[in-house]
Amino acid sequence: MEKILVFIAMVSSLMFAKSETEICKKCHPIIVEEFQNSMHRKSSFYDDKIHSAVWDKHPSKEKGGYSCAKCHAPHGKTEEDIKKGISCSTCHTIQNIEYHTQSSSNIYSKDPKTFFSAEKGRETQKITYKKESSFFGMNKTAVGSPYHDIDYTNENFYTGQVCMGCHSHRKNSDEFTLCKTDKDGAKDKEQNCITCHMPKTDGSATTIRKSQKHSFHGFAGARHKPQMLSEYIELDFEKTATGFHILVKNKAPHDLLTHPLRAIELRVTLTRDGSTAALKTNSFIKVIGRDGKPSMPWLANAIIVDTMIKGNEKRVITYNDSVKNGDKLEVQIGYYAVNPGALKQLNLDGEKELKKFTVLKQKYFIVK
Ligand code: HEC
Ligand code: HEC
Ligand code: HEC
Ligand code: HEC
Ligand code: HEC
Repeated sequence: MEKILVFIAMVSSLMFAKSETEICKKCHPIIVEEFQNSMHRKSSFYDDKIHSAVWDKHPSKEKGGYSCAKCHAPHGKTEEDIKKGISCSTCHTIQNIEYHTQSSSNIYSKDPKTFFSAEKGRETQKITYKKESSFFGMNKTAVGSPYHDIDYTNENFYTGQVCMGCHSHRKNSDEFTLCKTDKDGAKDKEQNCITCHMPKTDGSATTIRKSQKHSFHGFAGARHKPQMLSEYIELDFEKTATGFHILVKNKAPHDLLTHPLRAIELRVTLTRDGSTAALKTNSFIKVIGRDGKPSMPWLANAIIVDTMIKGNEKRVITYNDSVKNGDKLEVQIGYYAVNPGALKQLNLDGEKELKKFTVLKQKYFIVK
């Protein structure tokens, strides 16, 4: 009885709660906590320094409207709405995706209290929570949520298509493609955007219906928890007649990094007889611009350089440094979130954490 009373108190307190995440937190605490640190939560100019630095330079800013809102803050135009960034209900009410030239669009369902989701074995279920049963339904056989209905039948939540309304591509007014994520990553039910970026992690998805695991809601990526994706990058070594090769295999179905501000580097050091020397660093970048020079995205109409490692590519990098048995090579692949060459122009040169080099994968090879 005590439990039931606590539960009634909890549900009624929910009605007066303000923010959506506060509501969800009551029953999905682990997921909400992960989400608070994700770049989806921090996607607006209030919380993302890189985004805000680019927005500050954007010609639309003077005109008023926040033209990035469609993807970076889809809830509305007020300050409070923009601060929400992307929220739980943004994704969980996406019914369908429409592909358009400029960028794609999410078609949101009109029912704010039914959430789409995916779960193996429940693909055909739509669960409506019946209020009468809620107070008696605290036992383990209860299904559904006392706060919302659940629709497990949306195919887009099994293939990763749900991510593509915002992630597929974006063009500027010259119809020049600024960034894109290959569609191949959002087809297969076994491996897609969701399985790589929201891997199953320890901890229950809800406090009410206990599960061993839940889908990680911190959305591992270049800005947050990049090392969770290390397993999708392979480094190998191969001796040649004149030196050696380093092989970089990108197991992601899209460019190793998709945003044109990033700069990847491959760093190699050679240790012989106790002394270590750095060999040539190789960069992998995609720079967009105009008239042969890098430019801000809204001015760009051409690719200036593209050495980025493509989806599923195995890149072979040649070193003409001779090696002999017993030599030790330390190989690192990592990146700068903002290409160091662009920091100053974006007034970000004072941001220490944006200057740091993040290692994605590191491996040692002993020459034999
Ligand atoms: C009062 C408790 C409660 C609140 C509040 C609540 N949920 Fe739930 N939710 C549940 C329960 C219980 C389940 C599991 C139902 C089942 O598995 O049968 C669930 C399931 C879900 C699922 C589908 C899980 C699956 O199995 O794939 C999603 C998505 C979801 N909730 C989102 C949300 C969001 C977003 C919010 C905040 C707006 C929220 N929930 C608030 C109790 C709650
Ligand atoms: C069609 C959806 C969409 C629109 C519209 C959009 N973006 Fe983005 N933006 C994204 C996605 C998705 C990412 C994630 C990174 C990636 O895939 O390149 C992103 C990432 C970024 C980043 C990198 C952020 C970081 O954390 O490093 C910047 C900067 C950025 N966007 C600026 C803008 C600006 C400025 C506008 C408006 C003028 C805008 N975007 C409009 C989808 C969009
Ligand atoms: C960027 C899109 C996105 C956002 C934002 C998002 N979710 Fe999810 N969520 C998903 C997808 C996709 C799945 C299905 C995962 C799967 O199939 O493993 C999911 C699964 C779930 C589940 C199912 C249980 C599980 O396996 O983990 C719950 C519960 C849930 N989300 C709650 C929330 C809550 C609460 C928030 C806000 C704090 C939220 N989601 C924000 C996309 C999102
Ligand atoms: C409503 C639009 C929207 C949807 C839907 C969406 N994203 Fe994003 N996503 C963004 C934007 C915008 C960013 C860039 C945020 C920033 O850095 O400012 C982003 C960033 C990311 C990042 C980079 C995080 C980092 O730390 O660098 C990953 C990974 C990601 N999204 C995965 C997903 C996955 C997986 C899904 C589908 C389950 C999804 N997104 C759905 C808009 C969206
Ligand atoms: C096989 C695993 C895998 C799949 C499938 C996958 N990704 Fe990735 N993704 C990665 C890896 C690896 C990285 C690079 C490491 C990092 O960003 O930390 C990455 C990086 C990203 C980033 C950050 C890029 C940047 O420049 O900031 C975004 C956004 C992203 N992926 C979105 C998606 C979306 C959307 C899909 C589905 C269409 C998808 N990914 C499918 C593994 C995957």
